[in-house]
Amino acid sequence: MFVETLILGAGAAGMMCAAHAGPGTLVVDHAKAPGEKIRISGGGRCNFTNMGVEPGCFLSENPHFCKSALARYTQWDFLDLVQRHGIAWHEKTLGQLFCDGKATQIVAMLMREMQDAGVELWLQTAVLSVEHGPDGFTVRLEREGREVVVRARRLVLATGGRSIPKMGATGLAYDISRQFGLELVTPRPGLVPFTFPEGRFAELAGLALPVRAGNGLAGFDEAMLFTHRGLSGPAVLQISSYWHEGEAVQVDLAPGQDLGAVLRAARSTRGRQAPATALAQVLPQKLVAHLAGALKLDGNVADLSDARIDAIAAALHRWELVPQGTEGYRTAEVTLGGISTAALSSKTMEAAAVPGLYAIGEAVDVTGWLGGYNFQWAWSSGAACGRAI
Ligand code: FDA
Repeated sequence: MFVETLILGAGAAGMMCAAHAGPGTLVVDHAKAPGEKIRISGGGRCNFTNMGVEPGCFLSENPHFCKSALARYTQWDFLDLVQRHGIAWHEKTLGQLFCDGKATQIVAMLMREMQDAGVELWLQTAVLSVEHGPDGFTVRLEREGREVVVRARRLVLATGGRSIPKMGATGLAYDISRQFGLELVTPRPGLVPFTFPEGRFAELAGLALPVRAGNGLAGFDEAMLFTHRGLSGPAVLQISSYWHEGEAVQVDLAPGQDLGAVLRAARSTRGRQAPATALAQVLPQKLVAHLAGALKLDGNVADLSDARIDAIAAALHRWELVPQGTEGYRTAEVTLGGISTAALSSKTMEAAAVPGLYAIGEAVDVTGWLGGYNFQWAWSSGAACGRAI
């Protein structure tokens, strides 16, 4: 069988690419259904884009690479598509757009777009091998227990990253890239909870509070959640993408507040109060109790010198933590790294060294923040590639 374009992966990027590529396109996926990550995303409502999308919200060895695709297929373009399909949506916090109904509406919308574009989709199809010759690509597939050989002028890698192997994530795009000599930026889990030695935060498990989590590279004002195994919540997931093993992160437990002023005010008006009681006016009591030993919050607030107050406030506004690790690909929302952008055209996503080979979506070394950015990269890179085909 011959096709103009064979797209490996019927996820967000692959379906968007196919809808733009049009007739002569075959999309294959080993899953039972297309867009499984879309289906479960955003708590089942799909945070499909973000009004604040701009290149600075993406991590990559080349931070300029994503600019062209994001500018040529924007969050407004995707929103326009959503509206044309009559899908009701709303803006949550921080520019995040969600479906009012179900995430499956986005999958259905992309399926419809592919259908209208005359694209064929094969599910439950495994990729056995890929070869490249003068006439294009020869791909051996296994479908319904039979081997099928597909020849294609162009091959698009859209099989995503390694996150959530239980949902069928594989390193296929990386393997094929390696086979063709394309450089890889070492993949690692991103948007992932931190783990700490057992029991470190057990007594706080379930507690959430607004914080600023940061390191020298970035900082995020969002919620943090204590868990039995460590720390989670949007602020932690965001900073995890900027974290490497062994490094520290700093957590401001009361962003926008002046804990030194809180303690000074207590000292001048309620001097016999315990420092922990004064701090519990602005911080969760459980958390203050947890930190009381380390901060030596004993005695009366009246006994605290200015220097002690400054030291306590500094420790709480810059709580230094060294995570033991992360939860890994099991729960990571994305995979950082991937096919190096140095190998690809930022306009078409085609590999310079292998004409006809393209890579899009999460498989590429472009990773967005939490909040709809990763889908926007899938839509933008998919559209750039599909239009170029
Ligand atoms: P994606 O992973 O979507 O698709 C890859 C496809 O390739 C899959 O259909 C898979 O079955 C197929 N495949 C893989 N290996 C294969 C193989 N060997 N053979 C054949 N097929 C193969 N982002 C966001 O912006 N907003 C959000 O709300 C969320 N929410 C969210 C929740 C959860 C739980 C996760 C895990 C992730 C998110 N994300 C997100 C991230 C987002 O889902 C992700 O960045 C995009 O789906 C990436 O799109 P791709 O098309 O590149 O890969």
